[in-house]
Parts: sequence; structure tokens; C-alpha cells
Amino acid sequence: MDKLLIEGGHRLQGEAEMSGAKNAALPILCAALLTREPLTLTNVPQLNDIGTMLKLLAQMGVAVQRDGSVVTLDASGLDNPLAPYEMVKTMRASILVLGPLVARCGEAKVSLPGGCAIGARPVDQHIKGLTAMGADIAVEHGYVVARTSRLRGARLFTDMVTVTGTENLMMAAVLADGETVIENAAREPEVVDLANCLVAMGARISGAGSDVIRIQGVERLHGATHRIMPDRIETGTYLCAAAATGGEIRLTGTSAAYLDAVVDKLMDAGCDIRTEKSPSFEAIVLRAPRRLKAVSIRTAPYPAFPTDMQAQFMAINALAEGTSIIRETIFENRFMHAVELARLGADIRIDGNTAVVQGVAQLDGATVMATDLRASAGLIIAGLVARGETVIERIYHLDRGYERIEQKLAALGATVRRLS
Ligand code: EPZ
Repeated sequence: MDKLLIEGGHRLQGEAEMSGAKNAALPILCAALLTREPLTLTNVPQLNDIGTMLKLLAQMGVAVQRDGSVVTLDASGLDNPLAPYEMVKTMRASILVLGPLVARCGEAKVSLPGGCAIGARPVDQHIKGLTAMGADIAVEHGYVVARTSRLRGARLFTDMVTVTGTENLMMAAVLADGETVIENAAREPEVVDLANCLVAMGARISGAGSDVIRIQGVERLHGATHRIMPDRIETGTYLCAAAATGGEIRLTGTSAAYLDAVVDKLMDAGCDIRTEKSPSFEAIVLRAPRRLKAVSIRTAPYPAFPTDMQAQFMAINALAEGTSIIRETIFENRFMHAVELARLGADIRIDGNTAVVQGVAQLDGATVMATDLRASAGLIIAGLVARGETVIERIYHLDRGYERIEQKLAALGATVRRLS
């Protein structure tokens, strides 16, 4: 199993180009199931999760062509609306094929995604919404088995804000008979990117980005070409890495537009952040002070502070001046990185969904274990500033969501290498 070896103490400086957003690309790849015509996507990140999703679609009969960050999908040959357990268990986002398969084929058999390290992560809202749209759904032998003659538009209300739940129901609704209204919808930018792609394919959607999304069902969708939005979590991760090391970096191919909550907190911590905008691109420049001030955070659905940036901020608070409170309100078990950070010398006390972080003057390198994708990012940030060497085990988690992370960090001046 691969490990990452990091030698701490190097300020990050220089430039890095951000990749397309994993959490926009995953639902948008599934949108290809909704049409018999080719869907071409650009700026698709080259990540393990993307590879897993392409394999899942290919075994359904979707023709997949991939050339670097350009992916073309042709679902005219879709003949197997099945997502088997062996594939779904490695990636929970596989549940995103459910809505499109029911809409396109009138049937689907999708393995229930198991829980994962950060929580039980049920999909009851996905099922509740599809049932309200007229799907007959049974959950048997670990599979969601759905069938319908044709979905009909309905007024849907999700009990909590769910990103993939909103995405699944929006994709189901685009071919339904009549109007669907999704209330309490997720407002994440990745939901908007999916809606923009579906509209380019001929769907009729309004309100994406607000908590009420209206979809007028149409008879069929056509092919399109769509560029995946930049990855705001990758961007926030590199901003935090530079902030923790007292560095100065410029991130290109990305936008600060979707990171207000994160940028605000980094500025509260003492960083100087500005964006460069031109007709062709946008960049973010961050300059960090020698030592950050501790900042308290509370995760919540967009546009509030994203849960996917919580571990990264725990890492920068571990070394900041003062005490911070971190509240995780989205997932029930997303503090596993705290005990690993403590192995590096961090002073963190956990009480339920609240962590109290007392900034220390120095962390010392050690061997630590990654438990989930974003926890891995938090451990990397800590390793970049810990004295001596830090070895991070189980970094397959990292490869799911961060494209070429060693190369990008090394280009910014970090000493990091992969140990097989
Ligand atoms: C998406 O997960 C992201 N994944 C996650 O990113 C992200 O952390 C999460 O949204 C929150 O922003 C993708 O987009 C592929 P939810 P998702 O449904 O959709 C509960 C990463 O690191 N819930 O918004 O699975 C759920 O348990 C990943 O890239 C139900 O109870 O999250 C959680 O407590 C990690 N029933 C809360 O709602 C449901 O039917 C929010 O979950 C659905 C959700």
C-alpha cells in the first residue's frame, strides 16, 4: 500500500494549476445515461473516483472514450441498468446512476452504498423522492431495485440538505412527465454545474443554486459539450497548505467565487488573498503571515463553510496562535484526523461534534494513517509544517480526490515523495 513521505519546514511558493471538480464531474458523467447522443466533457480531473465511475458506466453498455481530461460518453448502447456491489462499495457516489437509469430505462438495480469512515450516509432521501415521482422501489439483498413506466413530476421536499440526493432527483426529473419542484435543495456549485450541463442537453431547469429547483420534464435530451467547473475543495486545500507554511502561492484555472466562506476564514487567520480576473482565466493569490491566528469554524451546507474543508482547517488551527472551536454539523464521524494530528503533537479535544483546538508552537513528524479523502489532506498540511519527516499511510484515499498531488506540491517547493 502506498505511503507518502513529507519533509516538513518548507514554505510553499510559486504557482499551481487546479483541476476540474471531482464532485461536479461524478454526477455529470451519470447525466450521459439520459440521452442516446454523445456527451463530451472537458476539464475532467484524472482521479481514481472518475476511473471507477467510467468503469461502472462502461459495464452498463456506455461507450467511453477518454483522452486526458476530455471524456466522451455514448449511452446509445445502454443495456444493463445495474450497478453491482463490487463496484459501488468502492465509491458511494455510484448511487448517482440511480436517478438517470430510472428516468431513461424505467428500471434500475443499484447496490446500496455501504457506509464509510465518516458516517452511515444513508440514501433514504434519494429513494423517498423517486418514490414520490412514481417509481416502485424495493430494497432487497443490499440493492435498490426500482421500476416505473414513466416518472411523473412531483413536489419533493428533502428532510435535510443532500447534495447527491438533489442531483439524483434533478436527473430523474428532467425526463419525467410534468413539473418537479425540489424544495430544500442543495445549493452547492456542483449542483449548479450539473444543472448547466443538463440545460445544455435540452433540459428545462430553473432555480439551481437556490433551495427551490423547478424542472419541466421533456421527451428526450440531446448530446452536448460541457466544461467541468474548477475544484473548489482542491483550491481550498492548497490555500490552506500555503497558509500553514507561511507561504505565498498563485493558483490558476480556478475561481474564488465558490470559496467565500473559506477565503473569509483564511483572511481572519491573517492571510492576504486577492483574485486576478481576466476574460480568459481567473487566479487566486495568497500570502500568509509567519504564524496564523486561530479561527473557529462551523460546517454547514453551501454557502456556509464546507465540511470538505474541515480537516484542512483543523490542521492549520493545530499550529495557529490561540484556541479554536470546530463544529462538524454534516457528518457524524468526521474527526478521525484529530487523533492522527495528535500523534504529530497537536492539542485537540473532541466532545461529540465539537473539537477544541489549542494551537501549539511546533509539530513533530511521525507516521500517521489516512482515514478518508479530506482527512488525508489535513494530514499532508500538518506534515508540511511538522519538524522532520512525516509518513502518511493508506494514501489511496488521497488518490481518489487530488490529481497529481505530489507533483503539484513539489512544484510549490514541498519535499514530498511516494513510497510504494
Ligand atoms: C456530497 O456527499 C459530497 N460527495 C461529499 O464530498 C460532501 O462531503 C457532502 O456532499 C456534503 O457537502 C459528492 O458530491 C460525490 P449529503 P453526499 O447527501 O451527497 C445525510 C468528498 O470528500 N443524508 O449532502 O453523500 C448524510 O448522512 C465527499 O468529496 C441522509 O441522511 O452528502 C449527511 O449526514 C465526502 N439521507 C447529510 O445528509 C440521504 O438520503 C449530508 O449528506 C442523504 C443524505
